[in-house]
Amino acid sequence: MKTIAIVATGGTIAGVGKAGKTVAYHAGEININQIIESIPMLKDLANIKEYQVLNVDSNEMNPYRWIELSKTINELLSNNNIDGVVVTHGTDTLDETAYYLTLTINSHKPVVITGAMRPASATSTDGPFNLYEAVALAIHNEAYGQGVMGVFSSTIYSGRDIQKVNNFKVDAFDQKALGCLGYMQDQEVYFYSKTFKKHTYLSRFSKQDIKELPNVGIVYFYAGASSQILYDMAHYHQGIIITGSGSGNYSQEWLKAIEDLSQQGTIFVRCSRVTQGIIFNDEIFDPHHLCIPGNTLTPQKARVLLMLSLSQTHDIDEIRHIFNEY
Ligand code: SIN
Repeated sequence: MKTIAIVATGGTIAGVGKAGKTVAYHAGEININQIIESIPMLKDLANIKEYQVLNVDSNEMNPYRWIELSKTINELLSNNNIDGVVVTHGTDTLDETAYYLTLTINSHKPVVITGAMRPASATSTDGPFNLYEAVALAIHNEAYGQGVMGVFSSTIYSGRDIQKVNNFKVDAFDQKALGCLGYMQDQEVYFYSKTFKKHTYLSRFSKQDIKELPNVGIVYFYAGASSQILYDMAHYHQGIIITGSGSGNYSQEWLKAIEDLSQQGTIFVRCSRVTQGIIFNDEIFDPHHLCIPGNTLTPQKARVLLMLSLSQTHDIDEIRHIFNEY
């Protein structure tokens, strides 16, 4: 039987509120061993070792906590007695942690991240079933080498592309036009596709001893938005992600600010407030190619990649290449 380490960080899966209700609860209240005890069939799947590394609402995650979490998981995976890791996490920022781990875990062994939309005390809690399927995926031979994956509502997503798309329903995750990697039915795993973007053991960031990450901020463009926010943010951020309209677009006033600040060394990435599509180079909104296209990444995922990129290089062409590869 395989051995899976469950690394718990908190979230609604560990949340407790009014008995039976879905509202007015605090995330990160109960310990992982209490959740595991509520799923007796887990022990039929794998030997489970549990590690409570945090117990927080995922809105309290930050780059320091990503660095520590990734180190813990890398250490566990380097142990020959551990076959895979399952991470329990709040759903609000799970997409960011999933991508950070995708880029920094140096192992072929599966890492599966999951959580819940309904607290442990709700009648309709979805945490135990998501955790059961996450462990079933982590022990599956076909999961080996697939990098970091997310499991929610019997659907398998890649750590790069998973995003929260609904703030109420149990089936809250998706990877939009990129579909999903596969489905699950209880402990059965059905893969249909794989990500072709570099991850985990192939990632240039997974070999790095990361101690801290440079500041990268995100700004949101809207009709009439002043460019002052860009000048203010550039004071204390090495990179700025632009959540533009349409194909990562903005006004001429913003273009002027981007041109000024690029000359002073700020690195810009263009993403979009539109939730589907791809950002390419653009001759109209970025005539001098000063902004790196964010590809299919959401702004918050592009921030993760830009932080890691800036921890290695400030060469804009190299970072542009990274955004194509990852
Ligand atoms: C959180 O992200 O920690 C709270 C929300 C959730 O887990 O669904």
